[in-house]
Amino acid sequence: MPYTNPASYDEFMGRWSRRLAPRFIDFVGLGAAKRVLDVGSGTGVLTRALLDAAPGLEVVGVDPTATYVEYARQSVLSPHACFEYGTADALPFADNSFDATFSLLVLQELPDAPRAVHEMARVTRQGGTIATCKWDFRNGMPMLSLFSQAAEAVAPEVVARRRAEIKARPAYDSIEKIAALWEACRLVDIRQMVLEVSLGVASFDDLWRPFLGGSTGEAVFARELDDATDGGVTRSMREIVEAEYGKGTFSLTARAFAVTGVASGGAL
Ligand SMILES: C[S@@+](CC[C@H](N)C(=O)[O-])C[C@H]1O[C@@H](n2cnc3c(N)ncnc32)[C@H](O)[C@@H]1O
Repeated sequence: MPYTNPASYDEFMGRWSRRLAPRFIDFVGLGAAKRVLDVGSGTGVLTRALLDAAPGLEVVGVDPTATYVEYARQSVLSPHACFEYGTADALPFADNSFDATFSLLVLQELPDAPRAVHEMARVTRQGGTIATCKWDFRNGMPMLSLFSQAAEAVAPEVVARRRAEIKARPAYDSIEKIAALWEACRLVDIRQMVLEVSLGVASFDDLWRPFLGGSTGEAVFARELDDATDGGVTRSMREIVEAEYGKGTFSLTARAFAVTGVASGGAL
């Protein structure tokens, strides 16, 4: 999924991540961790939340998207944080470099998730934590479901094609599947929890404008489809949102799957 325009990401998905990150950290716990890795660190949302949760912590973020790494470097100005380029399936760190490894909203991006989890375990010391959290895209992310409904109403064939493409990717679309992945990668003491976060939305425009900023694959799709339909998706989305929530402020609640385990230190 292409990631561009990090400032727009912060308005689009980042406002959700900012609410989810502290809940995820609370669920996983930091124990006595001193050095933590944030895989797929994006614009630095989780790194910032980790530093807020434990100010003495040292956090390293790693992400393959150059513009996001630069943005995070410029916006998370702590001497305890740094950001590197790299992908989850070939982490640029030595074995046992971290006390804990977190990844927030990244699992859906990984072409080879088992390999990425093995990498996360490799760079985490024995007894350290490896944790992930991913939106429930089936029906737990209403902002995207509303868009999907709006897009389908104006361009059903295009949406069907896109759904088929997305379906072809490996999906960890239930908390059980994510926990099974953790088990298959020989992590132990696995715990799981469904996390919910709510976002207050000021108006239809507040919800919709960030879709058009082109920050993620979904946002690029939204903008292109809106252009191709001469604003048809905007009109359809407005109709659906205003029918459901009226014209004033409203709130949306999203659901995410969080799973954590412990590196057993055995050969992987
Ligand atoms: C939805 S964003 C989440 C960013 C951040 N963790 C947050 O919660 O706001 C997904 C991130 O995964 C990164 N990403 C994509 N492919 C990746 C890979 N193979 N390994 C690690 N990160 C990846 C993207 O560049 C993007 O920053």
